Amino acid sequence: MTAQADKRTPRQQAHARTAAPRQSLQTRLLAAARAAIQQAYAPYSNFPVGAALLAEDERIFTGANLENASYGLTLCAERAAVVQAVHASARRFLALAIVVQARAPVAPCGACRQVLAEFCKPEMPIFCGTVSGRSVIRTTVGRLLPNAFHLKGAGVHALKQTPAKHGKHP
Ligand code: THU
Repeated sequence: MTAQADKRTPRQQAHARTAAPRQSLQTRLLAAARAAIQQAYAPYSNFPVGAALLAEDERIFTGANLENASYGLTLCAERAAVVQAVHASARRFLALAIVVQARAPVAPCGACRQVLAEFCKPEMPIFCGTVSGRSVIRTTVGRLLPNAFHLKGAGVHALKQTPAKHGKHP
């Protein structure tokens, strides 16, 4: 389409330029998460979850939840995907998709948010969808976990730099 023939407003054109690639990335990652959910082992909750994590080098790592008779040992789909990725030397990520077999999408649990914050920038998009539905909720790592805990954060430096005020410490 030439610029002259394009009857869309500049705003519509700009939206088309940025929305199209984002849409295909979202679609691709959700499809990978839908494939991964088939491998879920969730006999206790009957709540299978699939995740797909896009690495900076364009590899996609997937995971599904893995439950245990000792419930607390359950591994969520998102963390399973992170484990796969890091074991394959991928440490920088561009996007995550998670899907559930439910009527509405869900967001990653608190533990997964902290693990994602370890490797992903706050602005990294997360697409939350379902196996069958079209509704997708878009969010980011930073929106889900503002002020994530990092060992190199200001808090640790502040603690190290604060001189003891009272008494002597060994
Ligand atoms: N689950 C995930 O895989 N990811 C989440 O972010 C939330 C919860 C799993 C854990 C468990 O197997 C099931 O969903 C029900 O909690």
